[in-house]
Formats: sequence, C-alpha cells, structure tokens
Amino acid sequence: MKVDVWINVVVMIGLLASKANGGASKYTAMYVFGDSLSDAGNNKYFVDTSAKANFLPNGMDFSSGPTGRFCNGKIIVDFIAEMVGLPLLPSYADVSVKGATILYGVNYASAGAGILRDTGYRFGRVIPLEEQISKLRKTVDELKRQMQGNDEVSKYLASALVFINIGSNDYLNNYNIPKYYQSSHIYNLHQFTDLLINRYRQKILEIQGLGLRKFLISEASPIGCAPINIEKGECNATLNKMVAMFNSRVKGVVQELRSNYPGSAFSYAPAFEVFLRFLGNAEGYGFKVKDKACCGEVSESETGGTKPLCFANSTPCPNRDEYVFWDAAHPTQAANRILATLLHNTTSLP
Ligand SMILES: *[C@@H]1O[C@H](CO)[C@@H](O)[C@H](O)[C@H]1NC(C)=O
Ligand SMILES: *[C@@H]1O[C@H](CO)[C@@H](O)[C@H](O)[C@H]1NC(C)=O
Repeated sequence: MKVDVWINVVVMIGLLASKANGGASKYTAMYVFGDSLSDAGNNKYFVDTSAKANFLPNGMDFSSGPTGRFCNGKIIVDFIAEMVGLPLLPSYADVSVKGATILYGVNYASAGAGILRDTGYRFGRVIPLEEQISKLRKTVDELKRQMQGNDEVSKYLASALVFINIGSNDYLNNYNIPKYYQSSHIYNLHQFTDLLINRYRQKILEIQGLGLRKFLISEASPIGCAPINIEKGECNATLNKMVAMFNSRVKGVVQELRSNYPGSAFSYAPAFEVFLRFLGNAEGYGFKVKDKACCGEVSESETGGTKPLCFANSTPCPNRDEYVFWDAAHPTQAANRILATLLHNTTSLP
C-alpha cells in the first residue's frame, strides 16, 4: 500500500512535470515500434545476436556513449521525440516495466526485426513486432498499477503517440535470402506483400485495442540506396521497387483505418519519398558523401547476406557530419536530424 501511494506520488509529479514542460507536448508519451533504424538499445542484452551496436565507435557522439543505436549519435525517433516536446525515450530492455521511468513512453524497436516472426532470425535473437507488442502490454499493465483507475490510464494512452517503422527487414532479411528463408519458395512477391500487409494491419489494431489512439506510421525507407545495396554508385532499383510496393499498400491500410476507426487518428509519414528527396539534395544540406559508410565497409557475411560492418574499434571517418550514412545501412546523426525535420515538416501529426 505504502509503495502504491509513493508510486502514485511519483506519477503525479511526472504528469505535472510533463505539463510544466512548458505545455510543450500535446502527447503524454510516445511508444516506438520498429527495427534497427529505431532501436535505441533493446538488442544489446542478448548474448546470442549479431544485430547489436552497443560498442564504440557507435555512439561516439551520443551523450552517454554507445547505447545500442546504429549511429554515431541520435536516431530519427530521438529527434521526433524532441520535436514533439518529449524527453529521450528509454528502451524497454533498459527499464522493463519499472516505475516512473516509463511515463513519457518506451522504445520497443529491435534491430533485425520485422513484421513476421522469422524475419532476421539469422542474426540470432531479435524482437519481432508481435513480441514488441507483448512488451507494450506489460507497460500498459504497469501503468494501470501506477495510475488511479482505468479512466486515467485510458485518457493517458489516448493522448500518447505511437510511432511505427517496420517492414524492410521482411524483404532484406527474409524474402530476399531464399537460401535460409522459406518465404520466397512459398509466396510470389505480391502474395508475400499481402501477407505482410494483413499481419501489419492486424498488429496496428492490436496496439489500438490496448487503448492507443494516435498513430504515426512511417513508410519503409529506400533500402536500395543504402551503401550495403549500392552498386557502382547506383541505388538497387529492385529493392526500392519492392519497398515502394509495400509502402503503397501501407498507405492504403492507413487510409482504410482512418475511415473505419474514426475514434483514432492515423498519420502516414512519407519516409521513402523524404529520404530520396534528401539524397537528391544532400549537397545542399552540407553532405559530401552519400554512397559510402562513414564506419566500416560492406562484406559478405557468414549468414548469407551482406552485412554492414562497423566493428568494435573500427576507425570511423573524421568528418562524420559530411556523410549521409554512418554504417552501410544506417544514417549518421547529422542525416537523421535533417530526415526527422523533413518528416516532421511533411507530415501532419495525429
Ligand atoms: C539488387 O537486390 C536484389 C535483391 O537482393 C539482388 O538480387 C540484385 O542482384 C541486386 N542488384 C541489382 C543490380 O538489381
Ligand atoms: C522545416 O520547416 C521549418 C519551418 O517552416 C523550416 O524553418 C525548416 O528549414 C524546415 N526544415 C527542413 C529540413 O526543410
């Protein structure tokens, strides 16, 4: 009982602080689902995964050093949280369901993960979307314990922002590796995309079923233009076409959800288009290199696909702010800052 009272006091202080935050945020919290573009440290405790980045030079420009982010500094969701007036979100793995640390939201994203359970399994342990949602369920249970009454929790969740960016690994680390994954033997590309889209829609509705009402659903980025997939200076058009097809279906789902669930708000962030536009004018934003990674190189991995190598203690390029890409698959902090701003500028938030 005493503990409950104390926790409620902490909650109240937290809520007051969020209001005192200059009334800065129209959201109570932000919940993030996704892959390595959004992972802020969830994979780092798994001993049996290669999909992690919690070692230098990753994080060399981050205030607390390496965190698990595949970047020298902040990633897009960090900047988005900042832009909507929320603090840096903790990773679920760091806070689990503990106390007031979860009050402004939690990041559940996991490098290598996709919409399908199998996606990324060749990396070892990753957290697929459905498991990210199980973790959200635990967070919601904890909020119910912390707050007075279900009404308050409902109100709190209804004003929280959900950010999701997932799907590219279902192509990169599933469908496109026929040697290890069954999917391309069973489905043609359209059938596979159907499968992804149906599952994705169902998962979004599961999150909605837990009481969340404001969704920012991001397009998958043009993975064909990441250094890992660039050949002779050209983006891989096959990959970009796959992702573009997925994105146009996601857009359709967002429009459908908007009309069928009028009590919720679904926004669509055109990350694919924004990224291409940014690449097209990278020089204008002060970038000099957009087809090579600042850290590491691309090589054939033992798991079949190529993988980005920014090994522990690799020597990164000195002029990080002039590179679009940090490693062979993930943008630098400098690029993430611009991408987040462009996304924020082109999206009407829910
Ligand atoms: C592009 O990516 C696909 C799928 O991974 C691959 O099969 C192809 O060889 C790559 N290169 C080109 C030029 O399409
Ligand atoms: C975003 O919009 C703001 C305000 O209109 C503008 O000042 C800023 O330059 C824009 N950012 C980018 C990256 O286009």
